[in-house]
Amino acid sequence: MSQTINLTKQLQQKLPNSLLGLLRKVGEEAVTMHYGLYVVGGVVRDLLLDYPILDIDLVVEGEAILLAKIIQTRHGGEVRAYSRFGTASWLLSKPIEGINHLDFATARTEVYEYPASLPDVESASIKEDIGRRDFTINALAISLNPTNFGDMIDFFHGHDDLEKGIIRVLHEHSFKDDPTRIFRAVRFESRFDFQIEPDTLGYLDNALEIISYLTSKRIWAELKRILNESMPDKALKRLGDLGIFTAIYPNLQMDDTLLNQCRMLRDGCEELHWSKIKPSNIHYVGLFTFPMGYEQMRELVLRLKLPNNVRRILQHVQAIKIIVPKLKMPQSDSQLYALLSPYNDSALFICWLAIEDTTVRQKLIHFSKNLRHVRPLINGTYLVENMGLSPSPIFSKILTMLRNARLDKKVSTLTDEHDCVVMFITNKAKGLYDESTNTY
Ligand code: CTP
Repeated sequence: MSQTINLTKQLQQKLPNSLLGLLRKVGEEAVTMHYGLYVVGGVVRDLLLDYPILDIDLVVEGEAILLAKIIQTRHGGEVRAYSRFGTASWLLSKPIEGINHLDFATARTEVYEYPASLPDVESASIKEDIGRRDFTINALAISLNPTNFGDMIDFFHGHDDLEKGIIRVLHEHSFKDDPTRIFRAVRFESRFDFQIEPDTLGYLDNALEIISYLTSKRIWAELKRILNESMPDKALKRLGDLGIFTAIYPNLQMDDTLLNQCRMLRDGCEELHWSKIKPSNIHYVGLFTFPMGYEQMRELVLRLKLPNNVRRILQHVQAIKIIVPKLKMPQSDSQLYALLSPYNDSALFICWLAIEDTTVRQKLIHFSKNLRHVRPLINGTYLVENMGLSPSPIFSKILTMLRNARLDKKVSTLTDEHDCVVMFITNKAKGLYDESTNTY
């Protein structure tokens, strides 16, 4: 039998003293209730890998909600209990170095009624609780019981796998029980620069068809978690290579061109103008759908039930694609404004990343940087107060005409604009004004 590893030293190095003190107190309280208490999952993995610890998950062999409530009466803060799941979140009265809550869960087993269903839950021992988890590296625990405080509990050789850099499931049905683990395997593999172990890769491949049973909400949540990683492109390549993208939607393909665009998005592009845009999942999805036709984009939106703000940008991207031939032709700034002003900057940025044509790229930047915010000096109030006009629908024509004149550098001062309005009124009266272009 291998020797038990004690991680108290690592806990002391990684956690603030006051937090560690608190964990000891919770462990002492648990023991008076004859409960076992453990730190579990990602936090143990991150402790051993020396990654930042952002959340602390505790598993209680006993009533987690009761323990959290008792701790709250002793140490203040607030408890949010979720009795259906036997879990509670204890919000600390004062955050400790960014940690503002501890999560308590009753040790449980999960029974999956059918593949990809949400599991039925029954209370259990720490061993059973650990046995329901996704990967060996996430199946580690640390005891907080005073008698063996800091002892690492490792039923599945998770410590070895962490050292070898391996992602391994605990049993062959893991992905079929919960296909979101397919996404998690790829995410952890790329985050830690690990490898999915060959048998696990085989189980993953066998479970690909079950992805279609997952609800849109769960797929989109997992994709977002991948896109929010600091280096999502590596995971995206893997999602493509393993056929996970096409299992979500057959026309969702990852090729080298798309991958390069994703890298450009991640690394920031040499064009300073876009640096004010923070890359987000919307931009990645915009790039994914750029090569698709409108119908395919719409099908993907429906498959993932993408939120309205994402949907709107994807529609803008498709609309910009249609006007690309026009953007390649010469035009005045006011004509360029008319072409691009309906679309928001995120859509322009996605198109800039996806379109290689230099002329089109220059125009997208020129519009976004120099034209989008151009406004005439004269406004509606000026027309009423200084030119004696009564408000009417003609105002918007006048203001558009003035903005076009300013975009095309036909006016620069207030007097120029004033003269322009006078001319507009006179020419309109004489029929010399072109309504379709808002110019003379
Ligand atoms: N878990 C699981 N199967 C899932 C999701 C979670 O077995 N589909 C278990 C894992 O043991 C995991 C723990 O629940 O470590 C907590 O899950 P979560 O908070 O999603 O992830 P972390 O592992 O903490 O990873 P991250 O750093 O991305 O938050």
